Amino acid sequence: MVNKKNILLGVSGGIAAYKACALTSKLTQAGANVKVMMTDSATKFVSPLTFQALSRNPVYIDTFDEKDPQKIAHIDLADWAEIALIAPATANIIGKIANGIADDMLSTTLLATRADVYIAPAMNVHMYAHPAVINNMKQLEQWGYNFIEPGDGYLACGYVGKGRLEEPESIIKAVENHQQSAHKILTGKKVLISAGPTQEQIDPVRFFTNRSSGKMGFALAETAADYGAEVTLVAGPVALQISNHLINRINVTTAEEMYDAMHSHFPSSDIVIKAAAVADYRPKQVYDQKMKKQAGDWNIEMERTKDILQSLGEIKTDQYLVGFAAETTNPLAYGMKKLQKKKLDAVAINNVSVEGAGFGGDTNIVTYINKNQETDEITLASKREVAEKIWRLIDRDIKDESQ
Ligand code: CTP
Repeated sequence: MVNKKNILLGVSGGIAAYKACALTSKLTQAGANVKVMMTDSATKFVSPLTFQALSRNPVYIDTFDEKDPQKIAHIDLADWAEIALIAPATANIIGKIANGIADDMLSTTLLATRADVYIAPAMNVHMYAHPAVINNMKQLEQWGYNFIEPGDGYLACGYVGKGRLEEPESIIKAVENHQQSAHKILTGKKVLISAGPTQEQIDPVRFFTNRSSGKMGFALAETAADYGAEVTLVAGPVALQISNHLINRINVTTAEEMYDAMHSHFPSSDIVIKAAAVADYRPKQVYDQKMKKQAGDWNIEMERTKDILQSLGEIKTDQYLVGFAAETTNPLAYGMKKLQKKKLDAVAINNVSVEGAGFGGDTNIVTYINKNQETDEITLASKREVAEKIWRLIDRDIKDESQ
């Protein structure tokens, strides 16, 4: 769960700061991108250089030490972080966050971040039991901050009791367990996804199709299942296996079959994503027998298929409907047009002429625009990571709408 995650590790000034070194090292080894931010007092216990070497990133201490004039460091880091972990968290930093005090880099960044925040306290047993600290922790819990309780045992101050920073392995386990359950964002939701191309038959041995591999739609289906959704996947002819046996896969061949399958599941669905590359035209005449070659040209008359997405947009009640727009020119303008014309709640646009985006490959680049025209860029990433980001944006928009 922490692999490839952007983790901001806040180290505040307690003797347990030494344990944050092992924590940095273990997080980095687990594949996380770790940036360490220290309070001034923390630097009295451990040198910033230690964290720099372990995280292979600069260490942040001073709010006004702005290294890049293009950015405001604490806001940039607040936005960068997916997880903010404060270990050790002293009574002081807990008190500051609970009371909205932002007087150093760490407290300011914590106030600005929208990341999941985990606080691993470490302090003297009597400080931990003080009503002020207890109240501050309760307040933070109410606001959705997560605590990793300190352990019992020998404390550096000589007392024995509760206040020891939890061991680095246990901190990481606690974060991972929480991330796993917190990210069941689609629990209780019925999700319907279409993926892959369609094949439009000419005769028993020939058909029209396109280059869609189905990988993006399959990644959306698999990540939706991981996020707790009940998933139906309507798949065109692709060579992909679905790894999760709980996903209800319906194989179709033609645009007409996809239309029927989508419409039969649409009324009972909560979220619908049309990632399929549906044929816009099909041969007007389908031959029962293989066409033999003849002298001269062969002209095939084509007729329009039904626009499945548009037909769903027209009948939708409270389904959240997302379309894909594969474009080679003016992607944003054409994508926006599709959003409006097909009455979508959001559109995922990719410029298929850009390296790393679109058909066939394992990566994608997407601009996600919702019906309020809020735009989010999903930069080059694996189709699975892009799928995860799309789900998080959908979850955000559905939550915003219900507020
Ligand atoms: N789509 C659909 N049924 C069709 C054609 C497209 O449901 N017959 C859906 C696709 O699944 C996708 C979206 O419409 O979610 C955009 O498809 P795209 O082919 O990019 O756009 P078109 O609507 O076909 O428009 P154009 O050909 O003008 O780009």
